[in-house]
Amino acid sequence: MSRDDEHMRLEDETVLITGAASGIGRETAERCANEGAHVVVTDVDDDGGETTVDAIDAAGGDAEYRRLDVTDSDRVHEVIDDVATTHGLDVLINNAGTGHPSSSLEEIDDGIRDFVVDVNINGVWNGCHAALPHMKDQGHGSIVNVGSLASILGLPKQAVYSTTKAAVLNLTRTIAAEAGPYGVRANAVCPGFTETQMLEQYLAIQEDPEAAREAMAEQYPLKRLGKPEEIASAIVFLSSEEASFVSGHGLVVDGGFSTC
Ligand code: NAI
Repeated sequence: MSRDDEHMRLEDETVLITGAASGIGRETAERCANEGAHVVVTDVDDDGGETTVDAIDAAGGDAEYRRLDVTDSDRVHEVIDDVATTHGLDVLINNAGTGHPSSSLEEIDDGIRDFVVDVNINGVWNGCHAALPHMKDQGHGSIVNVGSLASILGLPKQAVYSTTKAAVLNLTRTIAAEAGPYGVRANAVCPGFTETQMLEQYLAIQEDPEAAREAMAEQYPLKRLGKPEEIASAIVFLSSEEASFVSGHGLVVDGGFSTC
């Protein structure tokens, strides 16, 4: 990563990102810093979060780490209130999310259902709930929620995940409609399968992980899976003023999968 002073899309802005200790979140945090933002890196994985901050520091960027479990509404409000009053909160990226083992709906127990709903829906809700009053007061703000291909497709054996990610997309649209008059935009990015630890965990429980990876990639017109940096590019675009007239949109970043 190197800072490109000529084309800084988030110069002097404060960006808070959840789930930024790895994968798409880490890559996005690094990209936001590279675009000139002060980045508040949050996660429940403290070591991973600090590693993200170290990488940003090493590249000459500006970041801090705060432990933040997105399911803890009080903590989400505490951190966001503090960041908003200290720096102003220009961009909130609700990226933290979790999957579940592939099983048919009737085999998914209530504990897994509730856990995934809590992280993927309530987690995004909590971030938006805490950030919106500040963004409305300051008269601007951009929220980017990380959905999934599962926001727009019903994925077999992924009933809870698909339900939660569809909710994320419609929550995003609702916020765009409600908060638009206050100068606040809300968008979602909907990635296809992307090479992160979440994907590795999914593959690890398949009978033949390498064959499963190849079969997955074969379904994509581009014949490969996504890279975290490709999802980060879409998130940074929607976060920034380059997308100043884009709101309520779900940007699918899936190498063409959903067109087939
Ligand atoms: P990842 O597993 O690398 O990153 C997820 C991060 O969220 C981790 O650092 C984890 O510690 C954090 N996290 C989990 N629960 C949390 C909680 N309660 N509070 C705060 N942080 C928490 O996975 P990846 O792939 O980077 O996922 C990022 C987002 O992208 C997720 O919302 C995921 O659903 C979404 N996504 C990922 C796809 C993929 O194929 N990797 C495809 C479509 C969407």
